[in-house]
Amino acid sequence: MAAEKIQGQERAARPRILATYRMPDRVERAFRDLFDITILEGISDMDEIIRLCSGYDALVCTLMNRISAPFVSRLPAGIKVIATYSVGYDHVDRAALKARGLPLLNTPDVLTDATADIAWLLLLGAARHAAAGERLLRASKWTGWEPTQLIGRHVTGKRLGILGYGRIGRAVARRAAGFDMKLHSFSRSTPVQQPGGNVVFHDSMEEVLRHSDFLSLHLPLSAQTSKWLNAERIAQLPRGAVVVNTARGGLVDEGALAAALQSGHIGAAGLDVFEGEPAINPVIMNAPNTFLLPHLGSATQEAREGMGLSLVDDLRAFFFGGNPKSVVPAP
Ligand code: DGY
Repeated sequence: MAAEKIQGQERAARPRILATYRMPDRVERAFRDLFDITILEGISDMDEIIRLCSGYDALVCTLMNRISAPFVSRLPAGIKVIATYSVGYDHVDRAALKARGLPLLNTPDVLTDATADIAWLLLLGAARHAAAGERLLRASKWTGWEPTQLIGRHVTGKRLGILGYGRIGRAVARRAAGFDMKLHSFSRSTPVQQPGGNVVFHDSMEEVLRHSDFLSLHLPLSAQTSKWLNAERIAQLPRGAVVVNTARGGLVDEGALAAALQSGHIGAAGLDVFEGEPAINPVIMNAPNTFLLPHLGSATQEAREGMGLSLVDDLRAFFFGGNPKSVVPAP
């Protein structure tokens, strides 16, 4: 952070930040008010980022940037902190950051409601063939109302299994009250009932499956949860169940899900996230009864601004004295 001359006046040096993607205007302005920031147009090539981040104090990345151990080992010594524009941090090798003494900042809380809303959009859209209906209209193939056309699944009064009863899982549960659903979940810690809550907490995540006409995933992706929803566990869901995933694609064995959609064991799936995104496994693309979105969970003005402003606040605290509020725990 060398002192610099601006219009002939020397001023205290400001931390230099490299951001890999454009951010909402309000966020970029907030960054520029405090930092010397270079904002790239969107870059996921990690070799290029290594080349570019020399001379910077911090890196603001997204879940499109794989912060692997080899990447961390090549970071210039000047980088003091990594901030990810996401709540999830499965794209980051936290052990490697720990070994380098680099803290990781993330953006919890501010995207909870937006993500819970998308889970509900997917749940309803998958249950009611929203994507197929839209395709029918746009192909000019709709010939009119028919008693047997695109018959979906009733949502009201059904059982909703929520796996991952953290902030987002609980926000999904709150919304279920409007549909008179019976809630089933699993929580390792003391379960938090919602106001007027009627959640049945089971002893294991597997046990939740048997009670899930609808299943919504809100687990973090880790070595323990990778491909958690596999063929064996899918078989424990009631026939015709609807699966919703707004967390991470890697939680699901996509081949097994596609096979279950083909066989009709899974009635429909609403997916916002995919294992190899942005590439989509062709078996998912070709499976019937899917309602697919391109990772839009946090894509509201409020959430995306909240995410960016939370990073600005935490980087301010990090560099100018204070306690960043969202530091990801080291492994
Ligand atoms: C996150 O922040 O981890 C989300 O997946 C982005 O929408």
